[in-house]
Amino acid sequence: MLQAAESVVTPWRPGRVIAVDRAMNDLSLGVLANTLLPTGLDTHARTEFHQALPVLTRGMMVRILLPEWWARVPVASNRRFDRARRTMDRVIGEAIAAHRRSGRDRGDMLSLLLMQRDAEGRGLTDQQVHDHVTSLAVAGVETTAATLAWFFHELGRHREIEERVHAEVDTVLGGRPPRLEDLPALAFTSRVIMETLRRYPPWMITRRATAPARLGTVTVPGGAEILYSPYALHHDPRWFRDPQRFDPDRWLPDRAREVPKGAFIPFGSGGYKCIGDTFALAEMAVVAATVCRRWRLRPVPGKRIRRVARGNIHPDRLPMVAEAR
Ligand code: HEM
Repeated sequence: MLQAAESVVTPWRPGRVIAVDRAMNDLSLGVLANTLLPTGLDTHARTEFHQALPVLTRGMMVRILLPEWWARVPVASNRRFDRARRTMDRVIGEAIAAHRRSGRDRGDMLSLLLMQRDAEGRGLTDQQVHDHVTSLAVAGVETTAATLAWFFHELGRHREIEERVHAEVDTVLGGRPPRLEDLPALAFTSRVIMETLRRYPPWMITRRATAPARLGTVTVPGGAEILYSPYALHHDPRWFRDPQRFDPDRWLPDRAREVPKGAFIPFGSGGYKCIGDTFALAEMAVVAATVCRRWRLRPVPGKRIRRVARGNIHPDRLPMVAEAR
């Protein structure tokens, strides 16, 4: 995580306008590729993975929302999606084959998946490993990247919050890069991340009812498609006082206890809840500390930031000016 964060931030220069949305996407992609794929994977395969992944992630959202026959219509976006899927399948397939040949634990997630054994000593099939790698990659990059981009956007809009984050990072790190054991001490920074997750969560999550079900006062027929909105829940004044206000201190332990169970669900809830929540929280803290240690990101005067709803809510474009601290 640190390596990916450093490599994105190192080329920044004082006064330069940074496309923070793209920087966070590159960074988050780098983190996931470093974690999932073997370090020995060649650069060309990594580049292909980087290029194919955003096409899949975006196309997938459209496929969730549109009827199933849409995926078979040969329009340009579907052809791009199919090409990206073939590329991902090939890159992951080659990585699996290379690993099976060497049989070595390389310390990455692919090794972990390939070396799993159940009680009878059976491992996962290549197809199962492939599907896990694809879901982790599709689910883990843009979500984290968007939250990080909003984190810096909010710091840019709230000088007093930014100063508190910078002061905390300076005290905890004392000028060196962050380490795993520093993360619990970055308490205020973590509250800013939590508040960012409250303000910019997924706008909707889908479910299909497998049987008729009663939800509160509503009866849902079997087979119905259900959409529910973490965004609406997170902005409901019944659960969050003054919900439009960006207030990290609502996550101080005493105040956080007042939030009812189920009212704060940036990572979803139930059996299909995000499997990467702790990973994402650690990644965001590492990136926040790595950037804030050296940089202050200022908004570009007069630039309005538009929100775009994909899985999460994304900034359309987020240019910010880098100021050295
Ligand atoms: C801020 C970052 C993230 C947010 C806001 C987020 C949000 C979510 C949400 C809301 C779901 C549940 C969807 C549902 O209930 O249907 C989900 C599922 C999932 N997430 Fe995350 N996620 C984040 C980061 C990550 C990361 C970093 C990874 C992987 C390393 C990851 C892997 C997954 C996977 C594999 C699922 C599917 C679980 C399943 O269907 O069983 N996520 N995520």
